Amino acid sequence: MSSARHTPPGLRPTLPVWAVVSSERLGHIQRVAELAAAWAETMGVPDSERHRWLRAVWLHDALRDATPEELDRWASSTPGPVNLKHGPAAAARAKAEGEVDRGVLDAVRYHSVGLAEWDMVGRALYAADFLEPGRRLEPEMRAELARRFPRDPTGVLREIARRRLSHIVASGWPIPEPTVRFWNSLAIPSSSR
Ligand SMILES: [Fe+2]
Ligand SMILES: [Fe+2]
Repeated sequence: MSSARHTPPGLRPTLPVWAVVSSERLGHIQRVAELAAAWAETMGVPDSERHRWLRAVWLHDALRDATPEELDRWASSTPGPVNLKHGPAAAARAKAEGEVDRGVLDAVRYHSVGLAEWDMVGRALYAADFLEPGRRLEPEMRAELARRFPRDPTGVLREIARRRLSHIVASGWPIPEPTVRFWNSLAIPSSSR
C-alpha cells in the first residue's frame, strides 16, 4: 500500500487511510483525480461540488486490491465476479466511516456498471475513470472524448457506455441490470430517430 501524503492541494481530499491499493493503482486514481479536477475547472463548478467529485474519485478504487475475503465482508450482498465488488465494498466502507452524501456513495458503488439516477458526481467519475490518459487502448479516442466532456457530458457518456456495453456483449457476459437502465437513460430517444 502506498502513501498518498503528497497529493497536490487541488486534488484533495486524498486516499482514505483504509485503502488497499498498489502503487500502479494509486497512479490511476491520481490521473482520474487530475482529469476530474480539470473538468471541474473548465466547467466552472463550485468548490463544494468539485470536492464531491474528488471524494468519489479517491474512494472509487480504494479497495480494488483488497483480498476477496475483505471485499466479501463489505459487499456480501453483491452478486457476480469479484471485480464487480470493489465499488460496492468501497461505498459500504466509506459509509461506515461517515460518508453521508448519497451522490458520492452512488458514484462509488456503481462506478463499474453505471446508474441511470446518477448526479454529476457519478457521471464525472464514470467518464474520468474510462478516459484518464494512462489507459493504453485507443489513447487518441480517449483524449478527444476527454476534451469534449465539459461541453457535451451526455454525448461523451453515451459514447463510453456504448463502448463498454459492446465489450460486455462481445465477451458473452451478462449485462448487469443497472447497466441496461443506464444505457437507456443515455440512448437517443426514439422520437429523434
Ligand atoms: Fe474500479
Ligand atoms: Fe478506476
